[in-house]
Amino acid sequence: MPKLGILISGRGSNMDAILQHIQTGNLKAEVSVVISNKSSAKGLELAKSHGVSTQVFDPKGFDDLESYETAIIGCLDSYNVDLVVLAGYMKLVGDPLLTRYENRMVNIHPSLLPSFKGLNAQQQALDYGVKYSGCTVHYVTKEMDSGPIIKQAVVPVLNDDTVESLSNRILIEEHKIFAVAIQEVLAEI
Ligand code: GRF
Repeated sequence: MPKLGILISGRGSNMDAILQHIQTGNLKAEVSVVISNKSSAKGLELAKSHGVSTQVFDPKGFDDLESYETAIIGCLDSYNVDLVVLAGYMKLVGDPLLTRYENRMVNIHPSLLPSFKGLNAQQQALDYGVKYSGCTVHYVTKEMDSGPIIKQAVVPVLNDDTVESLSNRILIEEHKIFAVAIQEVLAEI
């Protein structure tokens, strides 16, 4: 089975959806390790409840981004991870990870890229007044939220939407397309 290493920072609902797709046989892969940059990430408990190994690497414990990411790479390599999955990992990825996992690292973003990169994508969509938004799975490259697009899903933006209602509608699609995109990428590795 191809091995995934999932990086998170918080809730972990996308990570959970990936684990569920694996359990139901939709996604032919295994999650070797879940890594968080925050010890408080709720997703860590969720991962443990699935019996998945977890690790916390707090950037504060390292001199710089390079030594921090070198430690993460050491962990991922120790599990022979085939694909790195950023699932709500709220930290810019630096050169060490980009080099080690070139074309083998994917991210999910809650907008139809290239629109609304960066933080608060759903609020950006509401502020702009778009009538459709969605989510995007893409390869991770040096520029944030800019790598080649693998899969997208579209949702309508309703007149009375709040950030919460729009985020929830998008999240439902995130939980569907991430696993499909991962399966496609794994077929090419
Ligand atoms: C998702 O909206 C994802 O698109 C973005 O961060 C959020 C993570 O949510 N990158 P969760 O931790 O997977 O629940």
